[in-house]
Amino acid sequence: MLCDVKLWALSDLHVRYAETRAALERLDDHGQDWVILAGDIGETEEHLEWTLECFQRRFAKVLWVPGNHELWGVSSRGPGKLDGPVKYDAMVSLCRARGVVTPEDPYLVWPGAGAPTTIALCFVGYDYSFRPADVPLDQALDWAAETGVRCTDESMIKPAPFANMIEWCQARVRHTEARLAAIPETHRTVLVNHFPLRHDLVWIPRVPRFSIWCGTTLTETWHTRFRASVVVSGHLHVRSGQLRDGVRFEEVSLGYPQQYDVEKGPRAYLRLILPELAAHGPA
Ligand SMILES: [Fe+2]
Ligand SMILES: [Fe+2]
Repeated sequence: MLCDVKLWALSDLHVRYAETRAALERLDDHGQDWVILAGDIGETEEHLEWTLECFQRRFAKVLWVPGNHELWGVSSRGPGKLDGPVKYDAMVSLCRARGVVTPEDPYLVWPGAGAPTTIALCFVGYDYSFRPADVPLDQALDWAAETGVRCTDESMIKPAPFANMIEWCQARVRHTEARLAAIPETHRTVLVNHFPLRHDLVWIPRVPRFSIWCGTTLTETWHTRFRASVVVSGHLHVRSGQLRDGVRFEEVSLGYPQQYDVEKGPRAYLRLILPELAAHGPA
């Protein structure tokens, strides 16, 4: 057991911005600590490679889950067949070649002090179910469009061979639930997913109807079913730490350069996940 090792998390780096890359270069060496990168590093293989190298120089282990931007049909390696699932597989391979842990790898057990804890890296997307009860599914996109909101994913992610994002999301839910159910019952968990696991955590006041691209109600109870001590997500670009049923939910976005203090740099936004804090804020 490693006594002083810490687990950190950060998401939504969007390293296509030069000022964010420069800021990331100023990150400290974190020695034996681990770091979770919770998606939306960028759109291309080059974005991911650059970032993994940056963090692997500073942390003993890097863990990654994809965001929606990683699934966009764009590549730094020229034209090719880049449907969402194919792009995901390519990004997983890129991580594995560098020893970075992905949702497709065996779950790791936290080596630090405290109760036995499994770190479950998940990839579950969205199915447009984060919408009011009186908005039918087939009107969800129109409901968002009434306020001028349409996620770029609609044109940049091709979910084939799945018929649509809903089917891909549901397949990932089934796959992930089976793996989570196999975690030893004596273990607590840290659940990591780019998208929030609960609708009531989605607070994006500037574009509230963007919620339909933010997750699925199929994961609302995962934090209690699978004994989470912490749930890590990003995507909203609205940082927060909240409690639900006594479980910490940490939204760990860095965001676009106008959404964080570039002078302070990303190290001010790294969120400590483990060891657990002694006291929590209000729910
Ligand atoms: Fe993002
Ligand atoms: Fe995102």
